[in-house]
Amino acid sequence: MAVARLGYIGISSQDPDAWNAFGSDLLGLMSVKGPGDGVYLKIDDHPYRIIVNKGAEDRLACMGWEVEDAAAYEHTIAALQAAGTPVEHGDDAGAVERSVSAYCSAADPAGNPLEIYHGRTNVGDAFESPQAVSRFLTGDMGLGHIVVPAPNTDETHAFYKDVLGFGDSDDLTLPPPAEGAPEMRVVFMHAANPRHHSLALFNLPNPTGIVHLMLEVPTIDEVGACLDRINRAGIPLLATLGRHCNDNMLSFYAISPGGIAVEYGCEGRQIDWQNFEATKTTVADVWGHEYQPVAV
Ligand SMILES: [Fe+2]
Repeated sequence: MAVARLGYIGISSQDPDAWNAFGSDLLGLMSVKGPGDGVYLKIDDHPYRIIVNKGAEDRLACMGWEVEDAAAYEHTIAALQAAGTPVEHGDDAGAVERSVSAYCSAADPAGNPLEIYHGRTNVGDAFESPQAVSRFLTGDMGLGHIVVPAPNTDETHAFYKDVLGFGDSDDLTLPPPAEGAPEMRVVFMHAANPRHHSLALFNLPNPTGIVHLMLEVPTIDEVGACLDRINRAGIPLLATLGRHCNDNMLSFYAISPGGIAVEYGCEGRQIDWQNFEATKTTVADVWGHEYQPVAV
């Protein structure tokens, strides 16, 4: 039984208020009151999808992977334990904080913090964007996609594939980012939904524990309007507007307060996995996505 989708992410931030302003004023997310004193950002009918809590560092706190039901949840815990992965069961207060029926915490072989959950609760209230974003593409496809560092790429890839049931989408190799550095490699994987990838593993380390988070809107005009807001606010870009080869995403990458990159895009490819063969590629972009030198 495979992971169904990315359901939520937790972020640790030295300045949650700045994240709140970035999320609502620039990305068009809806800031809502949550069960704790963190920042809760809603993007659809789920109570919230991004939880930002104050912390000593700016980094990924957890990625919340959803499985379909209680049986799949128990099966997944058993699979993690059989693979020798320590699993910590979440308590009631933690389940309330996440608005889930039950969850547990673990780490992948690269040390990335992950949670498995089932039963999202408090679903149903409408999303209303403060920046007139019509909607985000979520539903069965979940929150979006996330890319995390995994210098032990092969071992981490095998964990997601063999233990959590992810499938391969694309294995991308790119030239070294600087002389003397290793080649870059990004392994793209899909969960049990049509989004081309819900997870990707990058072979170089990242101080924020997250290479980027992707949010998808329905139209290019909504991507452009967000880019205008980002540029007007003087927010640095990690990468300019461009289109990816593998998932066809037309997007740009903005750098949030604290340094986590957010990809904001549209037109992502949706796949019928019955008729798909995983690809191995060496070109990331059809056009654009010029990476900007950034001091993190
Ligand atoms: Fe991406």
